[in-house]
Amino acid sequence: MKKLFLTAAATVILSGAYFFGTQPQAIAQTEESSVIDLSELALSGQEYYNSTCAVCHGVNLVGTNQGPPFLNRVYAAGHHSDMAFVLAVKLGTRAHHFRFGPMSAIEGISDEQIGAIITYIREVQAANGF
Ligand code: HEC
Repeated sequence: MKKLFLTAAATVILSGAYFFGTQPQAIAQTEESSVIDLSELALSGQEYYNSTCAVCHGVNLVGTNQGPPFLNRVYAAGHHSDMAFVLAVKLGTRAHHFRFGPMSAIEGISDEQIGAIITYIREVQAANGF
């Protein structure tokens, strides 16, 4: 937990100057997301993502006015580890990078489903240069 806080603090310091003051709308939707051949695990993750995350984070990770896009260097693996994704889903998160407000914990999702979702997100991020 302590380590996570340090990581989060470092992320805020590193990205804060760049992102604070940016209107969420300005980064809310990236224009496009490259469509790629997904692995089998990522394909199942895509299904779970589309039914539980896309309403806020956007189909193809492009974001909506309810939540940030994952095609953003803030959410690349170097800034937000896979564990940060697990914790966001299990515990929810406060608004700290943008101004969309907090995210509630997502109920009724298994560790396997979260793992598949992360695999999906990482594959699409990689295909889009993040
Ligand atoms: C009801 C809207 C909503 C849903 C549904 C949702 N999120 Fe979020 N999510 C948000 C908002 C809002 C934030 C906060 C962004 C900020 O300001 O930092 C966020 C942040 C995150 C973060 C970043 C956490 C951090 O440490 O900065 C991750 C990772 C994440 N969401 C993953 C997911 C995944 C995976 C799903 C689906 C299982 C999901 N979210 C579903 C709205 C949502």
